[in-house]
Amino acid sequence: MASISCMSAILSFLLISIFLSVYNIEVCEAQARPPTAKGLSYTFYDKSCPKLKSIVRSELKKVFNKDIAQAAGLLRLHFHDCFVQGCDGSVLLDGSASGPGEKEAPPNLTLRPEAFKIIENLRGLLEKSCGRVVSCSDITALTARDAVFLSGGPDYEIPLGRRDGLTFATRQVTLDNLPPPSSNASTILSSLATKNLDPTDVVALSGGHTIGISHCSSFTNRLYPTQDPVMDKTFGNNLRRTCPAANTDNTTVLDIRSPNTFDNKYYVDLLNRQGLFTSDQDLYTDKRTKGIVSDFAVNQNLFFEKFVFAMLKMGQLNVLTGKQGEIRANCSVRNANNKSLLTSVVEDVVETLIEM
Ligand code: HEM
Ligand SMILES: *[C@@H]1O[C@H](CO)[C@@H](O)[C@H](O)[C@H]1NC(C)=O
Ligand SMILES: *[C@@H]1O[C@H](CO)[C@@H](O)[C@H](O)[C@H]1NC(C)=O
Ligand SMILES: *[C@@H]1O[C@H](CO)[C@@H](O)[C@H](O)[C@H]1NC(C)=O
Ligand SMILES: *[C@@H]1O[C@H](CO)[C@@H](O)[C@H](O)[C@H]1NC(C)=O
Ligand SMILES: *[C@@H]1O[C@H](CO)[C@@H](O)[C@H](O)[C@H]1NC(C)=O
Repeated sequence: MASISCMSAILSFLLISIFLSVYNIEVCEAQARPPTAKGLSYTFYDKSCPKLKSIVRSELKKVFNKDIAQAAGLLRLHFHDCFVQGCDGSVLLDGSASGPGEKEAPPNLTLRPEAFKIIENLRGLLEKSCGRVVSCSDITALTARDAVFLSGGPDYEIPLGRRDGLTFATRQVTLDNLPPPSSNASTILSSLATKNLDPTDVVALSGGHTIGISHCSSFTNRLYPTQDPVMDKTFGNNLRRTCPAANTDNTTVLDIRSPNTFDNKYYVDLLNRQGLFTSDQDLYTDKRTKGIVSDFAVNQNLFFEKFVFAMLKMGQLNVLTGKQGEIRANCSVRNANNKSLLTSVVEDVVETLIEM
């Protein structure tokens, strides 16, 4: 199908006017990307903040040169942002500093505190360069993109134009949208299917676990009281040493072969029964996903291609655009509601005048 429409694009290039054919070739190339959400575009800040991408990339290069582990934290932050209530920067909001009516504290996500600081620092740099035009949700999406590339993964463009949400999700909504690592593949597949992610997307996105770390508490259910029989024995013994008890506070890497490099070794781990979470390892047990794991384990280019496609889908989940939401002046708090503030001031003045 794809090659036929590419052919016809080339044909129309030859037959029809140059203008039309250029348009058709764009359609043909665009087939490698999922549809772009209404209101987002690949050129969104080209005029309003032309240096956006170079500022983010050069700043993150500096950050990762000091500590490459921060890349994993940023990638995970974008995933959590998008899965809960859509990619609207809601994950960045401080519970305690939230606006009126938002009483629920966000649940504990073991997200890295540094990730929030990196994003706020970038927001400040971008405001200096362009004014307050770039949303915190777009900054989060761009940091995830650069985290992948600067860790050795593919370089790719993402559509921009997300707006920041005004509310954060309740604890229950967060839990409902982020399946636990003890989930089997069936649970993961059906959970992600509700977000229009198919088995290939699920296996590709799980490849995000090619970088980063986990706390013992996220996987000791596979060690105690008895070791998950699917888990490689030596791998399990080593994990037991790192996590001598279920409540140990230690951490370990998600991909033992290349913990800081974005590559396809995570899938090689799964083939060797060295996946850390049930949600990882079971992708190589379930018939619907086993073949995809095998394919990615032997073909890194294929993994990169499917990962980018799935990230573009994930990165556009329930985005706010246009006049929805706001551009935050501080990523951890929603903007002061100046309109109602102004209204109340005016009302006070009017009242005072009437009394006089
Ligand atoms: C499919 C369901 C998923 C589950 C059940 C899951 C679960 C987890 C858990 C439990 C941790 C470790 C938390 C801790 O104990 O510190 C973790 C870490 C991580 N996850 Fe996932 N995850 C999923 C999907 C994803 C996706 C889609 C991505 C990105 C594309 C991702 C990227 C990461 C990264 C990079 C880390 C390491 C974070 C760090 O080092 O700070 N995960 N995940
Ligand atoms: C969040 O994590 C911290 C430290 O890891 C812990 O002390 C706290 O009890 C956790 N809070 C919740 C609500 O789970
Ligand atoms: C997967 O987990 C769910 C929920 O725990 C359970 O009901 C189901 O039977 C499991 N499926 C398989 C194939 O193990
Ligand atoms: C893990 O934590 C325990 C204490 O809970 C400690 O004795 C042990 O040395 C730690 N192991 C590693 C590998 O950090
Ligand atoms: C953003 O808001 C938080 C919470 O009110 C505050 O602690 C922090 O200093 C603010 N950051 C900046 C850069 O203004
Ligand atoms: C609200 O007003 C304050 C003070 O004038 C200003 O600093 C802030 O940027 C305004 N917030 C919004 C959302 O316009």
